[in-house]
Amino acid sequence: MSNELILAIETSCDETSAAVIRGGKEICSNIVSSQIDIHERFGGVVPEIASRKHVESITRIIEQAVQQSGYQATDLDAIAVTEGPGLVGALLVGNVAAKSLAMSLNIPLIATHHIAGHIYASQLEHDLQFPSLAIVVSGGHTELVLLPEEGKFVIIGRTRDDAVGEAYDKVARALKLPYPGGPYIDRLAHEADEVIVMPRAWLEKDSYDFSFSGLKSAVLAQINQHRMKGLELNEAALARGFQESVIDVVVTKALRAAKQYEVKQLVLCGGVAANRGLRAVLQQKCEEKRIPLIIPSPGLCTDNAAMIGAAAHVKYKHEQFAGLDMKADPGLSLESWSIE
Ligand code: KG4
Ligand code: ZN
Repeated sequence: MSNELILAIETSCDETSAAVIRGGKEICSNIVSSQIDIHERFGGVVPEIASRKHVESITRIIEQAVQQSGYQATDLDAIAVTEGPGLVGALLVGNVAAKSLAMSLNIPLIATHHIAGHIYASQLEHDLQFPSLAIVVSGGHTELVLLPEEGKFVIIGRTRDDAVGEAYDKVARALKLPYPGGPYIDRLAHEADEVIVMPRAWLEKDSYDFSFSGLKSAVLAQINQHRMKGLELNEAALARGFQESVIDVVVTKALRAAKQYEVKQLVLCGGVAANRGLRAVLQQKCEEKRIPLIIPSPGLCTDNAAMIGAAAHVKYKHEQFAGLDMKADPGLSLESWSIE
């Protein structure tokens, strides 16, 4: 195994994180400081506040990551940072910190894609085999990504409106559950002894795209109708109906794509990969169809810098480094981030 030490920094949304990764696989440290308690009272991430909090904690988090790794800053071989996508002000904080470190230590800078990070998180615990298909389900993204070979990404399907996590958070908000609502809906769905069946958005017959705004509206309509009529709502049954609709569509499309592209493996990643219902159904279907399935452990599914270090290592191997004029790009495309 190679021994390169990469210090990775992730500040694309509401987690300030730094990690030291050895040889693209071994996590020497992975410090994650969440701002959830700050944004919770606003019911979502407030970009200005996120940037300010990143500024307040980034230096301390980087110092902790280096210290906990057992190495010195001078041992590092490269600095990786999330270039995008994400909130521009939040990304900027990590970018400035990464550039100054790379400059002062005189080591290469690796501009990294956030979603490539979510996908390569699986590499920290398992071995990716190509071709592979990644199911990316996070707060901002819902995509089926074909990985024909290492470092190459082809998006074969994406959401046309809400991301899965976004739909979870909006439904949770309507049910007056805390932010981020995904885990609360997940728990509620498991407590249900009944189900209120919700519609499935399959879109065109051959499409691998998704749409969750219709489902979200259907759930919100149920909540509003019950409130207006003063009727009691079986919230658990509704949560279960919502969750079953999401799982049915995501799993069915992913398995169809896995078959069509003859992939060796399925990878489930992004914050919503922590969903117990989705994990269970996908595990069962993959066993039935004998498709190997990789799901990172929950702490590596939500935003963290270790995953950024894992993805950055692929670029390191190909010596594809960024200049100090690199700019944070809130709309960075995954396909164009593929190795050349
Ligand atoms: O990947 P992530 O940490 O941040 C983004 O890059 O977006 O994903 C956060 C999303 C939130 O929408 C959150 O509600 C959702 O992941 N999430 C879940 C669960 N845990 C986190 N959604 C459903 N079930 C869960 N158990
Ligand atoms: Zn993420």
